Amino acid sequence: MAGGAESGGASGPIVVLVVHGPNLNLLGVREPEIYGRTRLADIDKELKQLGRELEMKVETFQSNSEGGIVDRIQKARGKCDVLILNPGSYTHTSIAIRDAIQAVSIPVIEVHLSNVYRREAFRHHSTIADIAHGRIMGFGAESYSLALRAARTMAEESRRRSA
Ligand code: DQA
Repeated sequence: MAGGAESGGASGPIVVLVVHGPNLNLLGVREPEIYGRTRLADIDKELKQLGRELEMKVETFQSNSEGGIVDRIQKARGKCDVLILNPGSYTHTSIAIRDAIQAVSIPVIEVHLSNVYRREAFRHHSTIADIAHGRIMGFGAESYSLALRAARTMAEESRRRSA
């Protein structure tokens, strides 16, 4: 419920949390033909810069562990309007991350650098696809900035609805 009692609140800046899952700390060096050459620190820096331009507060977080991601999502409860989430390989397996999203009632944009449907069949299933507000994939690092722009529209509409 963005903008409601459960989230960042109807006043103050729009807050977006970006969570990166396992192995994304190796972006830039990890299979660059699939994930590109941009490093995670540069993606985060660019998102914060874009956030400033769009007058939003952007927080970023990366963890290689499922529990670490669950903890961070729980911590965002009531403090964040939209969650941009690339769960990495946990996309395809994690019920715990799905449950955390449902527990905190924060709308989610699922993001992937690669188009998972052009890859192995085991990547075609996502445990969060049906509870995500939307999904953006296949644009490399740009998937995140597209998601951030979408997050702003989502949060604005949600705050308007609950005003
Ligand atoms: C990924 C796709 C996943 O299948 C993979 O396990 C990743 C990255 C992506 O961003 O394209 O770690 O989420």
